[in-house]
Amino acid sequence: MFNKWHHIPEGYGNQAGVMTVAGLPVTELVAKHGSPLFVYDTALVHARVAKTRAALPVNVKLHYAMKANPHPAIVSLMASLTDGLDIASGGELKSALMAGVVPETISFAGPGKTDTELHDAIRAGVRVNLESELEAKRAGAIAMALGKTVRVAVRVNPSFDIKGTSMRMGGTAQPFGIDEARVPDVLATLGQEPFIFEGFHVYGGSQSLNAENIIEMQAKTFDMLEKLSVAAPCSPKVLNIGGSFGVPYFPGETPLDIVKIGNALATQIANRSEQIKAAEIVIELGRYLVAEAGIYICTILDKKISYGETFLITDGGLHHQLAAAGQFGQVLRRNYPVVIATNLDGKTEHKVTITGCLCTPLDRLADRVLLPDAEPDDLVVIYLAGAYGASASPKDFLGHAHPKEIII
Ligand SMILES: Cc1ncc(COP(=O)(O)O)c(C=O)c1O
Repeated sequence: MFNKWHHIPEGYGNQAGVMTVAGLPVTELVAKHGSPLFVYDTALVHARVAKTRAALPVNVKLHYAMKANPHPAIVSLMASLTDGLDIASGGELKSALMAGVVPETISFAGPGKTDTELHDAIRAGVRVNLESELEAKRAGAIAMALGKTVRVAVRVNPSFDIKGTSMRMGGTAQPFGIDEARVPDVLATLGQEPFIFEGFHVYGGSQSLNAENIIEMQAKTFDMLEKLSVAAPCSPKVLNIGGSFGVPYFPGETPLDIVKIGNALATQIANRSEQIKAAEIVIELGRYLVAEAGIYICTILDKKISYGETFLITDGGLHHQLAAAGQFGQVLRRNYPVVIATNLDGKTEHKVTITGCLCTPLDRLADRVLLPDAEPDDLVVIYLAGAYGASASPKDFLGHAHPKEIII
């Protein structure tokens, strides 16, 4: 069957051929909340955070990058389960504060922060990860005007990159962070008020499934931070070494070996200078913590054959789940794992294409996949909808209704 080449996220059940989430049949969820529907299972998030913490050294802090899933209930949950939150906009700052997140545990990264965003962040007392020399000057001026100090970390664009991921955010010409070679000059300006220099942020890229590559990147990151710390106005309190932990989306991909990463990180820290050991080491993760805890459910509205190919047309689409349609960072379109959630036990396989209801050829949720019998009113479930799903999709496109998101 099609999904045999996919890694299927664990934790979902099968009750007489109907998929269950947290023991609840998807048919019941749709009857109650409607379709299409995003469902996030908090027990799966708890389990993933626990697994991650168990793999990482005890003294390493775990931060959640809220861009992965900014649903208020997920943000509150992650604030309670992790040690800090990474935000990327003024909107995320507002949501985080509304969710009751303690400002001291929030760090604000992202290029192109507006004056208003800097103002709000400084007033709230969150740490600003400086992405450029000009941003440092602007943050300083805004803090002075407010009569406040500004907690800062320097985001470094390292001279090395992470191998094996197409989602690189460092090691090449980038809008993110300050090139490693220029960082000492910036550090020289951060030694006095209104700046409170707190440390460094390094984010090499996303979605790596190769533990060796991540381990190598972490080792190089520590080498770099050891050198840069010498030029810092004071010993860094925080070293955010990024994350890059990926999840298997596509055929042939396998889960990341985080135990291997955790063991290597423990050795790495043990062999570093006292200055590095004294700092708080932070791993910053988004999708790894939440992607597999979410599903996207949609309902088949029509079934038709066009020039010999079968199409299952649903009430969902790329306006809700852009990533599953291959339009969010994929170079070649590949299918996410998908099931007919009301016929899990079906034995006969048919080659079908699952589309959404949008009038664009891009709106393919699954392209020529082998799935059991499916008819109008059957439910389709696309896995891995817990990260970069609803919030990363063009919800207003073509004026269809926005999807519902529920937490169980
Ligand atoms: C600075 C920063 N931190 C964290 C993340 C989260 O990445 P992921 O969801 O792949 O863990 C990103 C993703 O773009 C990022 O830019």
